[in-house]
Amino acid sequence: MDNIPDINNINETYEKALGELKDNKTEQDLSTWRTKYLGRKGILTGLLRNLKSTPIDSRREIGQQLNNIKNLLENNYEEAINAAGKSDNKNSSVNHVDITMPGRPIQNGRLHPTTQIIREVCEAFLSMGFDVAEGPEVEWEYYNFDALNIPADHPARDMWDTLWVESDKQEKGNILLRTHTSPMQARIMENREPPVRVVVPGKVFRYEASDATHEWHFYQVEGLAVDQGLTFADLKGTLFEFAKRIFGENRKIRFRCDYFPFVEPGVDMSIDCFACSDSGSIEPENCSICKRTGWIEIMGAGMVHPRVLEQAGYDPNKYTGFAFGLGPERIAMLKYGIDDIRHFYSNDIRFLNQF
Ligand code: PHE
Repeated sequence: MDNIPDINNINETYEKALGELKDNKTEQDLSTWRTKYLGRKGILTGLLRNLKSTPIDSRREIGQQLNNIKNLLENNYEEAINAAGKSDNKNSSVNHVDITMPGRPIQNGRLHPTTQIIREVCEAFLSMGFDVAEGPEVEWEYYNFDALNIPADHPARDMWDTLWVESDKQEKGNILLRTHTSPMQARIMENREPPVRVVVPGKVFRYEASDATHEWHFYQVEGLAVDQGLTFADLKGTLFEFAKRIFGENRKIRFRCDYFPFVEPGVDMSIDCFACSDSGSIEPENCSICKRTGWIEIMGAGMVHPRVLEQAGYDPNKYTGFAFGLGPERIAMLKYGIDDIRHFYSNDIRFLNQF
């Protein structure tokens, strides 16, 4: 193309190119347009190439004009191609959304297995007339021990090795991370008049190395009932009902003597093994859930010690009560066949997704 550029044919070319650009709507057409005007053998490129043939005195001006036009056309082209891209996405069959495709499932979060069990346990007691309270995890030594009939220097303190908090404050002894939810027994009695029926879920801490059945922090659910005339039969009836709701109608329960300074008498409660006594598929001799004993310990309990009642301001001649404490992780382990308590705090989504 031996077109020598001059002001006239430059402007003409520009008008023409712009006009044609407007008529082109698809990416394909626009690309053809671009080759025609701006490509290596394009019209505008040809004009630029022939710049050297223009008279020397107007070459500079014409060169500038040509470059201006080239830039303008490039910009216009970019705009057009962008607009075409957007509408192509809307219209082309390649990119359109196939509404018949099955959707991706939404990943729903869910409650942690411990939380699920805590809620189940609280529900069971709520339906039996208990209410739910919570208390501090950082606790006075007094409530964790003294108020529970565990005086300083009593060897029973060794049962609850704990983590102490350094502090200058010493209102009710030193400050510690509570080792059980039992301190809430005393706090509740200090603040309420009988009758009392309450369960207390919450976190507890012990100075302990973790292994498959121990953690240095875990949950408990405490229970406390105080009224006139409550007896061990009330304790039994309530906990039997609870065991059936959580572990199934056929459950049997067993009580054995145990020692906790804040109850008298103190017991541990077991349920008969739901794995080998119900299913028939697991032989009791091979059962790993109950370790071949037929029974599974699920909580400590007992009648509230008169000294604990008295210290909290209740008249032990008028009132009696029962208390219990259970570990929801342990219940979850039994119910779901989890073999290691450390899974609960490993934050492993593969574990958590199973519940
Ligand atoms: N607090 C006791 C523990 O942590 C459990 C318990 C609670 C026992 C209430 C008896 C009554 O081991």
